[in-house]
Amino acid sequence: MSNTYPPTEAQAKRAHADAETYAKMYSHSITDPEGFWAEEGKRLDWIKPYTKVKNSSFTPGNIDIKWFEDGTLNVSANCVDRHVETRGDQTAIIWEPDDPKDDAKHITYRELQGHVCRMANILQSLGVSKGDRVVLYLPMIPEAAYAMLACTRIGAVHSIVFAGFSPDALGARINGCDAKLVITADYAPRGGRETPLKSNADAALLHCKENVKCLVVKRTGGQTTWTDRDYDYNELVLEADDYQKPEEMNAEDPLFILYTSGSTGQPKGVVHTTGGYLVYASMTHQYTFDYHDGDVFWCTADVGWVTGHSYIVYGPLANGATTIMFEGVPTFPDAGRFWEVCAKHKVTQFYTAPTAIRALMGAGDDHVKKHDLSDLRLLGSVGEPINPEAWTWYYNVVGGGNCPIVDTFWQTETGGHMLTPLPGATTLKPGAAQTPFFGVKPVVLDPQSGEEIHGNDVEGVLCIADSWPGQMRTVWGDHERFEKTYFGDYKGYYFSGDGCKRDADGDYWVTGRVDDVINVSGHRMGTAEVESALVAHAKVAESAVVGYPHDIKGQGIYAYVTLMNGEEPSDELRKELETWVRTEIGPIAKPDLIQWAPGLPKTRSGKIMRRILRKIAEDDFGALGDTSTLADPSVVDDLIANRMNRS
Ligand code: WTA
Repeated sequence: MSNTYPPTEAQAKRAHADAETYAKMYSHSITDPEGFWAEEGKRLDWIKPYTKVKNSSFTPGNIDIKWFEDGTLNVSANCVDRHVETRGDQTAIIWEPDDPKDDAKHITYRELQGHVCRMANILQSLGVSKGDRVVLYLPMIPEAAYAMLACTRIGAVHSIVFAGFSPDALGARINGCDAKLVITADYAPRGGRETPLKSNADAALLHCKENVKCLVVKRTGGQTTWTDRDYDYNELVLEADDYQKPEEMNAEDPLFILYTSGSTGQPKGVVHTTGGYLVYASMTHQYTFDYHDGDVFWCTADVGWVTGHSYIVYGPLANGATTIMFEGVPTFPDAGRFWEVCAKHKVTQFYTAPTAIRALMGAGDDHVKKHDLSDLRLLGSVGEPINPEAWTWYYNVVGGGNCPIVDTFWQTETGGHMLTPLPGATTLKPGAAQTPFFGVKPVVLDPQSGEEIHGNDVEGVLCIADSWPGQMRTVWGDHERFEKTYFGDYKGYYFSGDGCKRDADGDYWVTGRVDDVINVSGHRMGTAEVESALVAHAKVAESAVVGYPHDIKGQGIYAYVTLMNGEEPSDELRKELETWVRTEIGPIAKPDLIQWAPGLPKTRSGKIMRRILRKIAEDDFGALGDTSTLADPSVVDDLIANRMNRS
């Protein structure tokens, strides 16, 4: 066993929950979820208080999840208005631009209210009303938060598409949720480069209904073309009213849709609802990060991912926090940028992904040591398992040995943290997400039998035995897919898609996806998506995509490609395919390695044996297992001989 790190007395004293309180509260949350969440629900302001707390069923054929179902509330009133009364002049959002030479912006809660109301008025004037969908395709600028909150103010459902996605991916999502409006910006500066968001949106909208409107925010002032469907935010905002009454929403009304990759087919629209999600985002933000008034909280994610939803916008703002929104990347203008920003804004809690930590670790300690990080009190990690080496560097070099690290395991589907150490309560183990958050009942199942594996020192697949308030409610427009994906394999349980170990002390270690989802730099990518992009290319006959270990990204994308008869492999074609996938999906989906495969290993019934392809991609072909069921075992020899990843 490697080193463990017990909380110091000071950390325990300061924390919202020390070890004893955690144990007591956790047990209450499991034995009496109704009572526990009835109390916790009070952290929000309700228009009509709830009388029912939990109403959920994981029964096959009847998966139905409701929390606080007869209560009504408004999310923007909870994230903005109620703080204006008590802390109107406190900074709500610190915006740090891509280029450090440009000025940061500090937006108070009072100012935020004005921005949100004006945006809400603009949305209404463009015909958006309660229940309508609005797609956001924006840089990390304050207007992204205004737009999210403005949607919640009038009861519209937002669906954010990460600005790194291609026009095709954007178009599919606009159509997928039948959006009435797209909000975008002229350009998105990132790492000193600019993505032409508006022209991407134009390209996407060519494939959408004609009546979809487009609201354009000016970020750089760069040149764009203007069409009949476009509206100029910067012009409309001058006329928009400063106040807009918050719409009364039911706790179970949809709050947002977020498309995410799964093991099969195209991305699915994960639906989160209003009351339970916000209670859960707020509570996890407060406890996991040990947030106190006066802290400055920085989550480096993008609002295009769930981490940005829950821990840049909704959780922190529900708690009246000061939250940082960062437009840039960790390595621009140099690998010291994160630490420079931490020092500049006196960040107290810092939350990032292992892939960034590994990249910055590689850049050397000097970048960190140049900056005064003495305000830091807590560090967080999310998105993939963190290797102990990166953990230890993060702990010692960034945290100066004084800051607990919370390794938070969760998913787009879970709304907030599921497994995480609690600062001040948990003795930390590098590499483990360790303990369940309040209300979360993790179980380890045998992947074959689906039976629960009891006791410690065991391994299997990670499932959750009962509902928690932040849980997704359905897949947009396809409840059957929701049931099948998450409740189909293991009856009566929510299946995470991850494998896990429970160690001798009962701590959980998430070991990674057991399905065909790969985790590239903390971003989820379905292998099926990349495959369907590749086979859409005229020269490609067939393709199989798997993940392989990558030093910085965690996993890289390894594509086996079989060309059409008569096509010749070449480096040029390899580049062409890389560019093709970038334009079909986005830069994050670009294969790291492409191997020309004259044939793919298939069973006699034609099923591709991915297990073998994974092994070859991992450069671990000594242990291929049984290949006797293959239709043509000789293809394996060719694939091994020409493998791309050699150590
Ligand atoms: C992985 C991101 C290990 C996991 C919030 C999960 C992790 C997927 C951790 C969800 C962690 C996330 N340790 N694995 N701390 N956090 N994962 O939906 O495989 O983008 O299923 O949500 O990331 O990715 P998603």
